[in-house]
Amino acid sequence: MAPGALPLVGHAWSLLRDPLGFAGALPAHGDLVQVRLGPVRAYVPCHPDLLVRVLRQGRVFDKGGPFYDRARSVLGNGVGTCRDAEHRRQRRLLQPAFDAAHLERYSEVMARQFTALADRWRHDQVIDAYPALYEAALRTVLDTLFSTRADTGAVERVHRSVETILDHLFRRMFLPPSLLRLPTPANRRFDRALADLRHGVAALIADHRRTDRDRGDLLSTMLATRRHADGGRAGGGLSDAEIADQVLTMLVAGAEPVASTLAWALWLLAEHPATADQVARESREVLGSRPPRGADVPDLVRTGQVVCETLRLYPPGWLFTRVTSAPVELAGRTLPAGATVLFMAPVLHRRADLYPRPQRFDPDRWEPARAAALPHGAFSPFGGGARQCIGNAYAMTETVLALAIITGRWRVRRAPGTDARPAAMATNLRPRRLLLHLTERPGPARAGSAAPGEAST
Ligand code: HEM
Repeated sequence: MAPGALPLVGHAWSLLRDPLGFAGALPAHGDLVQVRLGPVRAYVPCHPDLLVRVLRQGRVFDKGGPFYDRARSVLGNGVGTCRDAEHRRQRRLLQPAFDAAHLERYSEVMARQFTALADRWRHDQVIDAYPALYEAALRTVLDTLFSTRADTGAVERVHRSVETILDHLFRRMFLPPSLLRLPTPANRRFDRALADLRHGVAALIADHRRTDRDRGDLLSTMLATRRHADGGRAGGGLSDAEIADQVLTMLVAGAEPVASTLAWALWLLAEHPATADQVARESREVLGSRPPRGADVPDLVRTGQVVCETLRLYPPGWLFTRVTSAPVELAGRTLPAGATVLFMAPVLHRRADLYPRPQRFDPDRWEPARAAALPHGAFSPFGGGARQCIGNAYAMTETVLALAIITGRWRVRRAPGTDARPAAMATNLRPRRLLLHLTERPGPARAGSAAPGEAST
């Protein structure tokens, strides 16, 4: 058992107060460490081999435990929350919308969204980075997966609802279900946010249905399985309720982690201006002045290394749970059926034997020969096995393109008022408040941009 458990709350307090410090300290106590989250005892794999086993043996280490049990009751039974027995069918139906051909099309939207964002900023302006990045990431999800262009008010409403849901979801892990049904202001806020979002999802699906044509997006892919199956689940397709759950899942899973990764990357580049200059140079060499696209990503080598190093230091999805479906041996111990196992990527990402001087931002770690020497499981920002993030390639394309677009254009510096500690009790690791001062980099003038010194807030 890890030291420092408090009466009643166990390790929950340390975990919530300083998630990265807590995670980084765990491997010192063994390869499989027991922790207590309120009343729940849980096992944390701290060795890459153990994590790989947990992620690959999805039948035994099934989605469940405090996080996924609560997530299922809120988000429904979509591909991210369903049990192993259900998963293969759902994933098979969704996967085509994430193939290379779709991704190349989506990448045009990604480039458009983040170019528009970089165009809106002005020389000498201070921006609140996370909400701006979130808006662009959410618009990207809406436009690519659901062919929907929402107005600013709608985007803000979805943002508020998703943030409320995700943050409450996290707190709810540590509370007994009886407390969640009490009519407290927090529970009412949560119920309202969920009802709003479900309502928005229903409207989005209804709108899509009205046109009844293939728009080349995820929703078309799902609706097609529904029609072919003539009745949904019986024929192996997705039922109406499942389609709504998948849409909700993508809205909740698809924007926050991208915005978090970009916010942390900009924060790190603000602290490491020499690396930022390398990314800017590369952006100009590879992208020039034409619109960026997915095929550029392999050439944006330095940008990719910065994104990987950001995901190592600040993996947005930092704590997920599993439950054992049968007794199983792990690290010489027999875990009973029903045991909770935690998947915490930062535990591995901050091991000094895998990453020398692990606290240090060092994108050179991702030079191909060094990266290839890492054992499986050492770098797991997207999970692994059958439940690996379905949006892995989507997210890498989006973050690399967005970072190249923004950094090619803007030099960023930390502005007063920034608090770059991870937000407390958040499902996704994101900075509390990231205020960045922008300076336009010298280069070819772009349509719609102000000349340096022309405008400020
Ligand atoms: C940097 C961005 C992202 C990160 C770091 C990330 C991380 C993850 C992780 C760690 C998991 C596995 C959770 C577990 O094993 O318990 C996951 C699953 C998932 N992610 Fe992502 N994600 C990102 C972006 C996205 C995007 C853009 C989408 C959708 C467009 C998405 C949709 C999903 C879905 C649907 C699952 C569940 C997959 C399954 O169980 O089959 N994610 N993500």
